Amino acid sequence: MELFGAVTHPASKKADWWRSAVIYQVYPRSFADGNGDGMGDLKGITSRLESLASLGIDAIWLSPFMPSPQKDAGYDVSDYRGVDPLFGTLDDFDVMLNRAHELGLKILVDLVPNHSSDQHAWFQAALNSPEGSPEREFYHFKDGNGDLPPNNWVSMFGGPAWTRVTNPDGSLGQWYCHLFDSSQPDLNWENPKVQEAFEDVLKFWLDRGVDGFRVDQPHAMAKAKGLPDHPYVDRAGAGFIEGEENPPMWFQDSVHTIFRRWRAILDSYPGERVMCGEAYVLPLSFMALWVRPDEFHQTFNFRYLDSLWTAESIFKTVNESFEAFDSVGAPSTWVLSNHDVIRHASRLGGDYGRSTASDGIGPKNPQPDNELGLTKARAATLFTLALPGSMYLYQGEELGLPEHTTLEDEFRQDPTFFRTNGARVGRDGCRVPLPWEAGVNASNGFSSTGSAWLPQPDIYKNYSRDLQEGKAGSTLEMYKAVLALRKELDLGHGSFEWVTELCTNSSLAFRNNGILVIHNFGSVAISMPEGQVLISSLEGVSDEVRPNETLWLKGL
Ligand code: NOJ
Repeated sequence: MELFGAVTHPASKKADWWRSAVIYQVYPRSFADGNGDGMGDLKGITSRLESLASLGIDAIWLSPFMPSPQKDAGYDVSDYRGVDPLFGTLDDFDVMLNRAHELGLKILVDLVPNHSSDQHAWFQAALNSPEGSPEREFYHFKDGNGDLPPNNWVSMFGGPAWTRVTNPDGSLGQWYCHLFDSSQPDLNWENPKVQEAFEDVLKFWLDRGVDGFRVDQPHAMAKAKGLPDHPYVDRAGAGFIEGEENPPMWFQDSVHTIFRRWRAILDSYPGERVMCGEAYVLPLSFMALWVRPDEFHQTFNFRYLDSLWTAESIFKTVNESFEAFDSVGAPSTWVLSNHDVIRHASRLGGDYGRSTASDGIGPKNPQPDNELGLTKARAATLFTLALPGSMYLYQGEELGLPEHTTLEDEFRQDPTFFRTNGARVGRDGCRVPLPWEAGVNASNGFSSTGSAWLPQPDIYKNYSRDLQEGKAGSTLEMYKAVLALRKELDLGHGSFEWVTELCTNSSLAFRNNGILVIHNFGSVAISMPEGQVLISSLEGVSDEVRPNETLWLKGL
């Protein structure tokens, strides 16, 4: 393989917790149900916190639990300072937070500032106020072009990014912009009142004791003045094409001043409070601008998540990552799965590139090979957890959970499915409730009654946590072992260099703090490097590096 561009990365001398943290994403709807109604909730999370602590993670990111009509599973917030009754109360939140802190776990909450719900008091006030009023200035209300929307923008979930309102007298009125569902109007971040309102929201949660925020869609918050047409909407749809001009709804420079102010607020609190931006910004040299020392602490390394699992692609991505993030002194924040993409245990079991990742896998699509997917997923996890930096895990990956790929349409909830008339099945398949105790009821212990807001496929029983607890070779025990080793060897703060003689078209190897990590991407076993094997992603022992195996070795 062409080893052009091989980078090295020095060990980090900065001890900040977030530079090396392993952060576990809890998707509250599907983690654990404390009241038996089939919907995960805060009491459920509290009851399972010890299990999380035993995994060896450092922090938890909680997807939204704030009041919401749940049109986009909580990413449509109608009150930024509360808890949706579906999930409990603010008191339940405080109990959860305190217990997490007692167990040494930090808590990041999800903040959704690009858009609110259409049921938010701000939007309702805007609807009930005349054109040009200060209330309408909270959002992007515009006149149309005759009967057409103000511009050619389309929604990330399909269909137009504009919806026309009806005036109180029944006549057709202005249009409002929504880059996502029509129930998620985009806020107008040019408006200082919007900025002030969100600074208060930050303080509200920081005062309660949260350790920080995961910030939703920060790269969409600022829009180009005058909201001009997307210059190549026909080719990019709602998105962008790397290397071409930035579309007017993405990556506008003016957004950075907002995050600098937020950073100053976080820094004014005791403890190291952090923000991680879901900035889908590429190339990574551009993403690096979002993690300059006075802005976000972290951004998700989406290039890594998007990369094909091949030696060439991972080699290039890792180089690009260290080059970009080291240039601003930020850690890379590695990630393989989340609530928006096909779980990596399924993605790697078939031919699913990034382009389909948020489209999901439905019963009519080619089905993944779950065994191969899990083998590769375990190896990918071991490889990734050996890289210096921070890592995000998505709930259920520690069980090796596959995607639910045969969910019937009647259960679907993702707006992507509805806005594309089923052409994209969407993200429900990665959001199915977790199996905790095999066979205790239809939800395998997710709820006490067996009810679950999305049904589990039959195979989930086999992945239940209780079957894996203490069982040698289980994915759960592999995660525990590797997280403990990572900490013991201080790999998160460690150094990085490729072992070039072991980097080929079918293998990659690197060293971090003296530990040699090798992965065999090929279909033929390769010679074992010298050293003592500390951990393998495969069961059993071999004197070679087997296909799809990752090994950590200690020098002799
Ligand atoms: C990104 C979130 O992760 C996703 O779930 C959501 O649908 C969109 N942002 C809109 O908030």
